Amino acid sequence: MSPLLEARDVSKSFGRTRALRGASLEIGAGEVVAVSGPSGSGKSTLLHCLAGILVPDAGEIRYGGTRVDELDEDTRTRLRREAFGVVFQFGGLVPELTAQENVAVALMFGGARRAEASRAAMEWLGRVGADDCAPLRPGDLSGGQAQRVAMARALATGPKVVFADEPTGALDSVAGEEVLGLLLSTAREHGTTVVLVTHDNRIAAFADREIVVRDGATTGSPAVAR
Ligand SMILES: Nc1ncnc2c1ncn2[C@@H]1O[C@H](COP(=O)(O)OP(=O)(O)O)[C@@H](O)[C@H]1O
Ligand SMILES: [Mg+2]
Repeated sequence: MSPLLEARDVSKSFGRTRALRGASLEIGAGEVVAVSGPSGSGKSTLLHCLAGILVPDAGEIRYGGTRVDELDEDTRTRLRREAFGVVFQFGGLVPELTAQENVAVALMFGGARRAEASRAAMEWLGRVGADDCAPLRPGDLSGGQAQRVAMARALATGPKVVFADEPTGALDSVAGEEVLGLLLSTAREHGTTVVLVTHDNRIAAFADREIVVRDGATTGSPAVAR
């Protein structure tokens, strides 16, 4: 069976910094995969390339067999809205909007009407334990609250793939495990594929499989679906 997500020899530099130098992986539909490795190894860059946010300098990214790196920006944006949910490492919420509006807007991009989007947004905030955050803007949320809201936004649209970059990074371990557990149970219930970027081995242990990134390359046993 062909993988749902694939990276082949992906390289990406920022100026003189070579963030990725030949990273390759395959992820099957419904897999929960941890992408781990030390800080600065290129995990976030790889996630952004897989999600079609960054275009690699060289190599290939595929989603369902389609070359994501060859799509124009509008098409990549549409793909993200329709098929992906992304929880960014640093914020990623729209600062001018309340938490509820941040979630609702994602649903409206998917075609939901305002009233229905607002209602569903509230429901998702409740599921991640962030009801209290609904009327607050990101600037008034704690790091942990912001990540719960970002998680609600990523899950609410019913994505095929959730990309989560250090989703528990700003939480203490109990709250972190709770939010992570919620992400994984939601994903497993819906057959959602999860790419979970983390530098924390304990978090990687929750995944079905771990892919290690070092110095911009995937290492160890072949980073392919079993
Ligand atoms: N937008 C950027 N501009 C310049 N350098 C960047 C940028 N993003 C990442 N880098 C650099 O690329 C390398 C890999 O970064 P990153 O992918 O964020 O690693 P990780 O997520 O594993 O900590 C680091 O040296 C980082 O400083
Ligand atoms: Mg990172």
